[in-house]
Amino acid sequence: MTDVRPAVGVGGHRDGPESAVSAQHDTGSVLHTLFHSEQGGHEQVVLCQDRETGLKAVIAIHSTALGPALGGTRFHAYASEENPEEAAVKDALNLARGMSYKNALAGLDHGGGKAVIIGDPGQHKTEALLEAYGRFVDSLGGRYVTACDVGTYVQDMDVVSRASRWVTGRSPENGGAGDSSVLTAFGVYQGMRASAKHLWGDPSLRGRKVGVAGIGKVGRHLVGHLLEEGAEVLVTDVRPEAVEQITAAHPEVVAVADTDALIRTEGLDVYAPCALGGALNDETVPVLTAKVVCGAANNQLAHPGVEKDLADRGILYAPDYVVNSGGVIQVADELHGFDFARAKAKAEKIHGTTLAIFERAAADGVPPAVAADRIAEQRMAEARKAGAAS
Ligand SMILES: NC(=O)c1ccc[n+]([C@@H]2O[C@H](COP(=O)([O-])OP(=O)(O)OC[C@H]3O[C@@H](n4cnc5c(N)ncnc54)[C@H](O)[C@@H]3O)[C@@H](O)[C@H]2O)c1
Repeated sequence: MTDVRPAVGVGGHRDGPESAVSAQHDTGSVLHTLFHSEQGGHEQVVLCQDRETGLKAVIAIHSTALGPALGGTRFHAYASEENPEEAAVKDALNLARGMSYKNALAGLDHGGGKAVIIGDPGQHKTEALLEAYGRFVDSLGGRYVTACDVGTYVQDMDVVSRASRWVTGRSPENGGAGDSSVLTAFGVYQGMRASAKHLWGDPSLRGRKVGVAGIGKVGRHLVGHLLEEGAEVLVTDVRPEAVEQITAAHPEVVAVADTDALIRTEGLDVYAPCALGGALNDETVPVLTAKVVCGAANNQLAHPGVEKDLADRGILYAPDYVVNSGGVIQVADELHGFDFARAKAKAEKIHGTTLAIFERAAADGVPPAVAADRIAEQRMAEARKAGAAS
């Protein structure tokens, strides 16, 4: 029988020790982040270990001010890092914090949390390990609800859910909503329409030249929405088969050699990064021809300050974590028995939220990314105040 008590409990976990730190590695800088930095302030961090299955995991709960913390489970090796375990804790802390902001702006009654399982998913992922992980999730009694992230899939959540009911993003055969990319793409499309309305006074994308980099699960659904509205669509992907598939289905779509060529395309109105993070950096921002950046990729801004570089060039940036929240809206809905129409109606609100962010940015004289953070922080602070008063 696996011992499901947290190895390290920081904060108010009902079963775990209040502040017992028994890690062998020097976790000084992680603890500094947690307790003393702007990026910290997490309510609870749980280190999980199950020697029988080889499970090593971190569950980070940043905030439960708005409700149970919701965020996916990343399965990653951190092999290139000097100290993989410390890198995993740092990643979990960052990702959990990001989820608090994302969930707040998605209008969800959920706080932010995230988990990381340390290991190569191709090598270490077993049903027994996922079930052991599920028992740890369950031990938190609903303070943390998990879902898919990089390295985990709906079938994995089916397995985790054998050990806990605090799991979402399961397959339709198991009562889940399945692939979240449909509503993620729909949300990005809503954010793009809001950007057009803010910049050009009309939300329509008809006749606009839109470049999509990365036509995977989200990108190809986004292309569908854009074509339906009459936009001129350009695409690029490192996988030639992805490009061939989309141009065969839609001959009007123009294939571009690579992302570098795409972002330099003359007359591009909108750039939609839908591949990996860090798309907006010191090399790409100066050469962008688009007037709007709005895409699904997480963590598009390579480092702090890029949001200002975009604003200085007059490029409107729709914050990634706002416009790509359709997926989390979908998995949150699943917790109440999935209703696609209800989830879609909620994802449609990304349009109004994006517009409100642009308006706040103009009023405060800050880039939209900063305005988004402020609105999210305001919602969390109000919830905390209401909680303290009740
Ligand atoms: N799927 C979701 O519901 C969801 C939700 C929120 C955010 N996101 C984010 O959106 C992005 C896309 O997600 P996805 O589910 O479509 O992933 P995916 O893996 O299905 O698609 C990504 C695509 O990008 C391509 N790609 C990789 N590197 C590239 C490069 N340098 N240039 C051009 N193309 C490149 C890949 O070949 C692939 O086709 C990711 O950053 C993901 O984290 C996805």
